Amino acid sequence: MPHRETTLTEFIIREQRRFPHATGDFTGLLNYIRLACKRISFVVGRGALGGATGAAGSANVQGETQMKLDVLSNDIFLRTNEYGGHLAAMASEEMDEPYVVADPELRGKYLLAFDPLDGSSNIDVNVSVGSIFSVLKCPEGVTEPATRHFLQPGTQQLCAGYAVYGPTTMLVLTLGNGVHGFTLDRGFGEFILTHPDMRIPEDTREFAINTSNERFWEPPVKRYVEECVAGRGGPRGADFNMRWIASMVAEVHRILIRGGLFMYPRDTKDPAKPGRLRLMYEANPMAMIVEQAGGAASTGRGRILEVQPEGLHQRVPVILGSRNEVERIERYHRETDEGLDQPYSSPLFKERSLFTQ
Ligand code: AHG
Ligand code: MN
Ligand code: MN
Repeated sequence: MPHRETTLTEFIIREQRRFPHATGDFTGLLNYIRLACKRISFVVGRGALGGATGAAGSANVQGETQMKLDVLSNDIFLRTNEYGGHLAAMASEEMDEPYVVADPELRGKYLLAFDPLDGSSNIDVNVSVGSIFSVLKCPEGVTEPATRHFLQPGTQQLCAGYAVYGPTTMLVLTLGNGVHGFTLDRGFGEFILTHPDMRIPEDTREFAINTSNERFWEPPVKRYVEECVAGRGGPRGADFNMRWIASMVAEVHRILIRGGLFMYPRDTKDPAKPGRLRLMYEANPMAMIVEQAGGAASTGRGRILEVQPEGLHQRVPVILGSRNEVERIERYHRETDEGLDQPYSSPLFKERSLFTQ
């Protein structure tokens, strides 16, 4: 047979055939997620022409300003996926409580957690945004799914992925057997396998962090960044480069393509929030993807995927990317916690800054 490109649907069917008792449910579920991402890609791509730029005039459960496209994308995810009959309930950044599929006849065996539009502060400036999703099994026998049924550690995810709406739209997916990237062919509306088996190099000389939060960072993070910025003449003996897009999806995508380190660490800005990113629909799916690509994903003090969730919108520190750098930062956390990293654990360190030596 002549060689031709593999579509996302064909890829999922092929993956499913590896499991002799597979029912085909997953193929169906992913078809709807794929359709939701295509729809969002279309409205994001129309920009101001679609009248969907700007703020919605509302706030979500976390008190964040919602953009019109946050609300619209959430709606698209809900409506598209509800129809498929594979999901019992869906949880999202934009909804206080899970949405339970209204028609009990249509309720399926899976739970979907998603961030419908990540990086939404970038919409109006025409910078890449994305959607992130995580699929869990609805516990056996549960017919009325609620928040507590979603609170499973990331190790329980059956599938995770994201779509990035950039110069091209890509869907990147893991079913627990590596990470595979598909590019949307706008000509005939299908995702085509263009990046099979994406791998994150173990080493990197590029990091991403919002340095405007520096004064709130913990000593191990200050130490790590200070050493990178010191460059060739510093303890690392190498020059480092830095990026900050403010769309986690785009940062993770860059790391999958060329390596790197992404951090939104724990900080002291608001003691009620142990980090910026949300565990269930940002950190966990990205951690599964990064681990499946050979990288590491940590809170600084343990694997993100092993955190036992306590709330749907719980926040968590995130340090992910090239394995050797993540392990180095974990070591810096251990050394701080054990008081071994003078002068970084000394109160004097608080007087020092990245920019004033
Ligand atoms: P969201 O748009 O879904 O609220 O997420 C934005 C997140 C993440 O994508 C990004 O890494 C981070 O917030 C940016 O935060 P800062 O504005 O603090 O840089
Ligand atoms: Mn987000
Ligand atoms: Mn969002």
